[in-house]
Amino acid sequence: MIVLGIETSCDECAMAILQDGKKVLSSVVASQVHVHSPYYGVVPELASRTHLQWILPVYREVLQKAGISPADLTGIAATNRPGLLGALLVGFTFGKALSYALDIPLVAVDHVRAHLYAPHIERDILYPYIGLLVSGGHTLLAIVRDFDQLEVIGSTIDDACGEAFDKVAKFYQLGFPGGVAIDKLSHEGDPEAFKFPDPSLHKGHHRYDISYSGLKTAVINQLEQFRNPGHEPTLANIAASFQKAAIDFLLKRLFAAVEDFSLHRIVVGGGVAANSYLRKTLSARTDLEVIFPSMELCTDNAIMVAGLGSELLHRGIRTPLSETAFARVPEFKRVYK
Ligand code: KG4
Ligand code: ZN
Repeated sequence: MIVLGIETSCDECAMAILQDGKKVLSSVVASQVHVHSPYYGVVPELASRTHLQWILPVYREVLQKAGISPADLTGIAATNRPGLLGALLVGFTFGKALSYALDIPLVAVDHVRAHLYAPHIERDILYPYIGLLVSGGHTLLAIVRDFDQLEVIGSTIDDACGEAFDKVAKFYQLGFPGGVAIDKLSHEGDPEAFKFPDPSLHKGHHRYDISYSGLKTAVINQLEQFRNPGHEPTLANIAASFQKAAIDFLLKRLFAAVEDFSLHRIVVGGGVAANSYLRKTLSARTDLEVIFPSMELCTDNAIMVAGLGSELLHRGIRTPLSETAFARVPEFKRVYK
């Protein structure tokens, strides 16, 4: 089975070719960072237009790198949800056209599930485990009992974790994408310079839920209130203290779930899984089996789409050409504890 994965849900125009769901024959990630960085955020209309310009060259490159021709492809996996609708439509429509022209099956892929599936491409992972998905659009804590049995136990009630990094970086003009800029700058800063409190959520939310809007407001508008005496409010100190708070919020809920569910295997996915403080702090817990994807598979890529797509195709799942793309998806099954 040789599957082409197509990913255009946000600002990466990516394709990858996978053999039998594991062997990466080629991967291309054409990043639009330079298109959006003047705005410190992704501009949806510019993303769609750029995908439209790049999609064919990316397709030609991914085939050439794999050393195969279109006739060698046996399946197409394309992201059709969630994301920027105009951007999704470019890649998904391209996938539908290829499936029709080559007369090979198509499967639509959910971007969030693809992030969580990514580490499975690199190694065999036993179920059950606690899944932590942290990206620019999602922050989820889930009990993953099997390939298709995922129960969300906690999520953000406002901004996603990566989004908080992006907004803080935008305010202080630290760079784009914000998470990468803050991670880098934090190495020069003191994480104890500011002490930002973990929000206590009101009734109606659950113990694994998380909120980032208070932290964002504190870092942007109320900085002085949280400064530790004797520490300077340098950009590096702000970055390091914010990063520590944002990641510690996650870890507190994750470790509570470890105890409550007696699950010691943790699988992390999404762009924020590339964060060096998160990787270092979690890896230090030698009593836990912590699985991170390689850096290439953390942020948006098409290997994860081809990987999940291969598994779905293998299970006989097909998507009709009448299918379309969706900016949002129905919530995951939620379990309250
Ligand atoms: O998974 P991803 O590439 O796209 C989405 O599906 O959202 O995640 C992008 C997010 C952005 O918010 C970006 O700032 C964040 O991941 N990110 C990081 C790091 N690298 C990317 N956040 C913290 N530390 C990093 N090293
Ligand atoms: Zn993503």
